Amino acid sequence: MRSIISILLCLGGIASAQEMKVEELYSKHCSGCHGAKFEGGVGGSLVDGQWKRGSSDAEIFKSIAKGNLQMGMTPWEGILSADQIRSMVIFLREKEKQTLAKGMAFPKPSPDTVTKTELHGYKIETLVENGLKNPWAIVFLPDGRKLVTEKSGNLRFLTAEGKLDPKIIEGTPAVIEHGQGGMLEVALHPEFSKNGWVYLGFTDGTREKNDKGKDDIRCITSVVRGKIEDHQWKDQEWIYRADPKFRSDSGAHFGTRFVLDKGYIYFVIGERGGNYEAQRLSRPAGKIHRLHDDGRVPEDNPFVNTKDALPSIWSYGHRNPQGLTMDPRDGALYATEHGPRGGDELNLIEPGKNYGWPVATLGMDYGGTPFSYDLDGKRVAAVTAREGIEQPIAAWVPSIAVCGLDFYTGAKFPQWNNDLLVGALAQQEVRRLRVIDKKVVSQEIILKNIGRVRDVATGPDGLCYVILNGPDRIVRLVPAD
Ligand code: HEC
Repeated sequence: MRSIISILLCLGGIASAQEMKVEELYSKHCSGCHGAKFEGGVGGSLVDGQWKRGSSDAEIFKSIAKGNLQMGMTPWEGILSADQIRSMVIFLREKEKQTLAKGMAFPKPSPDTVTKTELHGYKIETLVENGLKNPWAIVFLPDGRKLVTEKSGNLRFLTAEGKLDPKIIEGTPAVIEHGQGGMLEVALHPEFSKNGWVYLGFTDGTREKNDKGKDDIRCITSVVRGKIEDHQWKDQEWIYRADPKFRSDSGAHFGTRFVLDKGYIYFVIGERGGNYEAQRLSRPAGKIHRLHDDGRVPEDNPFVNTKDALPSIWSYGHRNPQGLTMDPRDGALYATEHGPRGGDELNLIEPGKNYGWPVATLGMDYGGTPFSYDLDGKRVAAVTAREGIEQPIAAWVPSIAVCGLDFYTGAKFPQWNNDLLVGALAQQEVRRLRVIDKKVVSQEIILKNIGRVRDVATGPDGLCYVILNGPDRIVRLVPAD
């Protein structure tokens, strides 16, 4: 097989790209999104036997050649020759066969195994193993139950014992499940036990069939609050709904995490694949916003008096933050943000500041070329720092695909108290970062390889809850020192 591929590649011409072995082509052009070990990343695993866009050789060829820009898959026609694309199909088939033969199952968290870390040992208790699809966020109700979102559009209860309540909460807002978007964040008002307010962040907009019979989608992140009685969502109020002109067809970068504190809600909208859009104060994407918790604009927001700026903006220049949390010690706000390939960031968020996407970045594009934009929005060679632009307080090159973020504040793991827990999708990790005086002084991986970590949260019981995707499950870390 290998020799056929190299013959095809030789026939392809003499340019150096044409001489590359298919393995090298994969590492150079595909591994950034589909995983160096084929485990998947921004794009799914290409060797797990699951083909969303058709499983015949011809269909896979077409998936590679034509791509799917809307969903973030580059069209390779024109960059790779037809022979190279064909060699890629053969190569993926070989790898698919090997991995299926080996069985690429994720390790099953075992309640009997003690994992030792620098400061604490823990065991993993599995709460929900079946029945949840793409869980995204979790919050803890005062009566011991939990609320969990499913990306497809559901809000659900876990019982106080942590089991999945089969009955779905009815009447929650309609969501557009599209690419990375859907029903995403859930959070409680700090005085939930008095007022009952639950906040939801989701992808909102329209999905209509166009003349060609294809879905025409326009969407962006929105925020509502409402109350839950039995299994019914009621008294809904809009907190933030962007002007429909800001909706787009992109399935990428919705952001969507909340912090509620002292009468305010902070929330994130990713740049929706719009790159330089993150720098434009007249547009909501690529920003962290702050509103009063009833949706009114605070008079002291940084851009309320700036011409053409949206008054809800708190900070800008963000690519796709999917983690947002507040330090319980000093109220400092932190966000983790997906960079491009290499360049994931942890930022200390302060009002009015520019966090640099895409005019300064440590990353490169998924094809492997470092790049950034100049201040006028033109794509230029890589710039990693500029005056007036905040540098991250931690960065990950290569990217680990940072997601959910929470300070640990319980009594069960006392030596982790006030440490920042950072979830990672692609690297399937939870990292523990010690933050002192707003600086990261140490970093340790405390959990690895049991699935893509979508969210981490300290429960009121002091246990550390972890939401996993692929396989979809909810586990918690229980001390075992
Ligand atoms: C910028 C990120 C990115 C890069 C680089 C990339 N892909 Fe993808 N790819 C994606 C995403 C995202 C999807 C899912 C798109 C969708 O939902 O249709 C995808 C889908 C695919 C599919 C269809 C999978 C299916 O389930 O049907 C194939 C095949 C594929 N990619 C092959 C490749 C190959 C080969 C390369 C390298 C030459 C490559 N991709 C590079 C992001 C990427």
